[in-house]
Amino acid sequence: MRLFIDTANIEEIREVNNWGVISGVTTNPSLVAREGRDFATVVREICDLVEGPVSAEVLSLHTDEMVREGKQLAALHPQVVVKIPVCEAGLAAIRQLSRQGVSTNATLVFSAAQALLAARAGASYVSPFVGRVDDTGNDGLQVLSEIVTVFDHYLIDTEIIAASIRHPVHVVEAAKMGAHIATVPYSVLKQMVRHPLTEVGITRFLDDWKAAQR
Ligand code: E4P
Repeated sequence: MRLFIDTANIEEIREVNNWGVISGVTTNPSLVAREGRDFATVVREICDLVEGPVSAEVLSLHTDEMVREGKQLAALHPQVVVKIPVCEAGLAAIRQLSRQGVSTNATLVFSAAQALLAARAGASYVSPFVGRVDDTGNDGLQVLSEIVTVFDHYLIDTEIIAASIRHPVHVVEAAKMGAHIATVPYSVLKQMVRHPLTEVGITRFLDDWKAAQR
């Protein structure tokens, strides 16, 4: 399973990119707004920093405007993937953009039914929001698992991005069930690195080494 980082913060992207573990970036309007910077500038900077797809989301609610905005975003950089919410207008926009060779990421997916529709409309990626399903008292990993099963069954080549990841267990479970990608916030990537036994082990090795020198 490939790992993307889910952020619009350049410093977070730079740090994690240096670890050599990320293959792409997803942003959304909330993440970009949090940075308080010009959208196009942020998207270009991310693309220059990271190899791989960089998702940038449209804000329009009507098909024609989504398509126009999507083309503008795609023109920013060849790595841009146009993120479009799953709704009637969004499906039609995904269809038009995919027919024009623009990569799309169907976002705000909360069911296998929505994922199937997005794939059939021509989405390059679908993004089921695991954590937000959990927030409603339902099982986000179950929804992800259903999508993996359906796509495997029909050899659908749309890639599944496990999104709205809240903790490392989400990432590991997504990998076990065969999701293609997980897009992971910086804080969760940090949690994934750390283990108390690794820290204890490092300290003990250094202490033993120092003791032997004396
Ligand atoms: C996915 O592409 C979204 O940006 C993201 O995963 C949303 O997650 P949240 O529920 O933490 O906002």
